[in-house]
Amino acid sequence: MGFFPFFLLSLLALYPSFSNGEMKPKIGICYGQLGNNLPTQSKSIQLIKKLGAKRVKIYDANTKILNALKGTHLQASVMVPNEIITNISSNQTLADEWVKTNVVPFYPKTLIRYLLVGNEILSNPPNTTWFNLVPAMRKIRWSVKKFGLKRIKVGTPLAMDALESSYPPSNGTFRSDVRDKVIKPLLRFLDRTKSLYFLDVYTYFPWANQPDQINLDYALLAATNITYKDPVSGLTYTNLLDQMLDSVIFAMKRLGYPNIRLFIAETGWPNGGDIDQIGANIYNAATYNRNVVKKFMAKPPIGTPARPGVVIPTMIFALYNENQKPGPGTERHFGLLYPNGSSMALLCRLLRIQVMDYASFLVLHFKSLKMDFE
Ligand SMILES: *[C@@H]1O[C@H](CO)[C@@H](O)[C@H](O)[C@H]1NC(C)=O
Ligand SMILES: *[C@@H]1O[C@H](CO)[C@@H](O)[C@H](O)[C@H]1NC(C)=O
Ligand SMILES: *[C@@H]1O[C@H](CO)[C@@H](O)[C@H](O)[C@H]1NC(C)=O
Ligand SMILES: *[C@@H]1O[C@H](CO)[C@@H](O)[C@H](O)[C@H]1NC(C)=O
Ligand SMILES: *[C@@H]1O[C@H](CO)[C@@H](O)[C@H](O)[C@H]1NC(C)=O
Ligand SMILES: *[C@@H]1O[C@H](CO)[C@@H](O)[C@H](O)[C@H]1NC(C)=O
Repeated sequence: MGFFPFFLLSLLALYPSFSNGEMKPKIGICYGQLGNNLPTQSKSIQLIKKLGAKRVKIYDANTKILNALKGTHLQASVMVPNEIITNISSNQTLADEWVKTNVVPFYPKTLIRYLLVGNEILSNPPNTTWFNLVPAMRKIRWSVKKFGLKRIKVGTPLAMDALESSYPPSNGTFRSDVRDKVIKPLLRFLDRTKSLYFLDVYTYFPWANQPDQINLDYALLAATNITYKDPVSGLTYTNLLDQMLDSVIFAMKRLGYPNIRLFIAETGWPNGGDIDQIGANIYNAATYNRNVVKKFMAKPPIGTPARPGVVIPTMIFALYNENQKPGPGTERHFGLLYPNGSSMALLCRLLRIQVMDYASFLVLHFKSLKMDFE
């Protein structure tokens, strides 16, 4: 990595300006429920409100959550489960029934804004589901129109593994096994319906794979003196997240869709993990989340080097540590709050972490923190 002065601002004029439309820089929280020790749904919605978040994403269409959201100002993303994608893809009646049962009764009192079809579908087999994804999205979108749910956009969150190359960012390329049959129709759908590309993006994972190659502060958006210059685009990067976001932007552009907006459907950093999972700790989690909130709430918006000044709506993963998630220890340690609703801040205080603790993160960046987490 080279060291370059910051000159991004002078480049602003060279890039097409994006209309930010009605998108406001709001931070959301992903509310996963894979724990056997979590507070009730209505208590959880209260916690999310008190954290000052403006959006919430859930991983199903849980009736209790959607009811608890009624009358709040939280915009909601609701998810169509992976398991029914294949059936929905070939059956409009089934799509209509799903939307009629899971969305219509709550709309518009619950501010449902995004209907996400599946979760990281391209990251797991069977590949038969991959090819049914876009047909299912079209059917769901047709149902949304049929029921007059005007403010709902249809999308699907994908992980970074939809790309086969993300380095340098200008080399961003979608995987060849999905490029023509899934990604191209997906981008056409998102473009035509003015929806967004929903991306789950974690700098933690590339950093944890190559801690010798990637500077920790660069991954935490905390580096002040490290820059990377993309040799092809000439763009200069000051953090790993921008590199990853731009690699997706370049990959879309390569397929002829340079204007589809990004929506960060998940990002975060683990606050704990197994003993060999270095870097997964409360201090780094607080630093990362704090810097992400600061970056995406900035006014005027910062955007990324490839799209300076563009608003990128962002959801932090996740509300709670979820003790029933499978996989390595980090998977169960992405929460902003302990399952008992108590903030990580308390532990930070005990550890005498003073500079970038959770308390200051919450107070500074989730504005209306009035509560005592206990
Ligand atoms: C999909 O449809 C088939 C045939 O109607 C049915 O047997 C199956 O249970 C359905 N799968 C799901 C997940 O609903
Ligand atoms: C489509 O879904 C509806 C509602 O679940 C079901 O009654 C019907 O049998 C399905 N059609 C086909 C061809 O599977
Ligand atoms: C789907 O995966 C199977 C193996 O799991 C493979 O044989 C097949 O070629 C794949 N199909 C496509 C269209 O990629
Ligand atoms: C660019 O991406 C391709 C795959 O799409 C890969 O083969 C190549 O190594 C990448 N270039 C660099 C410089 O990493
Ligand atoms: C960058 O900053 C960090 C901490 O602020 C410092 O430890 C490091 O030596 C600096 N690196 C260079 C190359 O200036
Ligand atoms: C909440 O859980 C954390 C982690 O287990 C613990 O340290 C803290 O004391 C608990 N707070 C309350 C009020 O029980």
